[in-house]
Amino acid sequence: MWDLKDFQTTPEHIFKSRRQALKKLAGGSIALAGLTSFPSSVFGNANSFYPPVSNTLYKVNREITEEKLATTYTNFYEFGSSKNIWRRAAFLKTKPWMLTIDGLVKKPVTIDISDLLKKVGGIEERVYRFRCVEAWSMTVPWSGFPLKNILSFVEPKTSAKFLRFETFFDPDVAPGQKQNWYPWPYVEGITIDEAKNDLSFLATGIYGKELPNQNGAPCRLVLPWKYGFKSIKSIVKISFVDKKPQGMWERIAPLEYGFWANVNPNVPHPRWSQSTEQQLGVDNRVPTMIYNGYGSEVASMYNALQPTLKNSLFR
Ligand code: MTE
Repeated sequence: MWDLKDFQTTPEHIFKSRRQALKKLAGGSIALAGLTSFPSSVFGNANSFYPPVSNTLYKVNREITEEKLATTYTNFYEFGSSKNIWRRAAFLKTKPWMLTIDGLVKKPVTIDISDLLKKVGGIEERVYRFRCVEAWSMTVPWSGFPLKNILSFVEPKTSAKFLRFETFFDPDVAPGQKQNWYPWPYVEGITIDEAKNDLSFLATGIYGKELPNQNGAPCRLVLPWKYGFKSIKSIVKISFVDKKPQGMWERIAPLEYGFWANVNPNVPHPRWSQSTEQQLGVDNRVPTMIYNGYGSEVASMYNALQPTLKNSLFR
């Protein structure tokens, strides 16, 4: 239900565009967000890596989503199942933040995020389309670095076939993690070829600033050709493994949230169509594109798999 109690404090144009966007959302376990104003402290402060240099290879023919929409309508089940968790997420302490990269690698490492950014040579900005499995989408400028850059210094062994990502586990800070029907922590996985793809991105920022907590601070995955649940937030561990990791959503509902999760308008979710999507803040629904429009960059990774996997490839 709408929670209008703070709406007078929200500028009218934001209030209207959010209201229109939220009204049109289809499918999914969508608990509608409250309409609120918010203090600037929930957005990251600038540091020496910001503002990032734009990588002009990654531009899209869509309007950039309004920052306030992209940063207040968020999915982060650790803080609750509504979209309106940004205030609660602000309690997560993200500095310092250690990331462990281990498993089938020659040089495992545990490193603070700011040291990691120095090690990979800083950050760049890329504008990507982003499509949630719930059929809403946004277009945002992410900043961070290509995921493949970490491979060069941890040196995966030839036996490493997949990457398994894990989010923090701290139920005292993240009340959603007290709900033990979810198999916490949040886990996601991709193949090593997917990790090497140019599009795979470890984001540390959005809209030219550090990520606000609700968008996955201090470090989250962004895989623009896959449904958004693959883009795991607030990562504490990346393990190189030889077996396909099972994601948290896949564990709960394997027929709804499969491993591949490549965006495909022709394969409906069991409970709703994927043929169109609602861009946050935009009036009309638009057709969804195969691989979210990134087929020329990613389709070749799946061609060999298609005969056996058929439609499940995209689930
Ligand atoms: N990562 C964690 N740890 N927890 C989550 O609940 N939600 C996923 C993904 N990553 C989620 C997560 C889903 S369903 C989506 S659509 C995207 O984050 C949303 O990213 P955004 O909130 O920055 O738009």
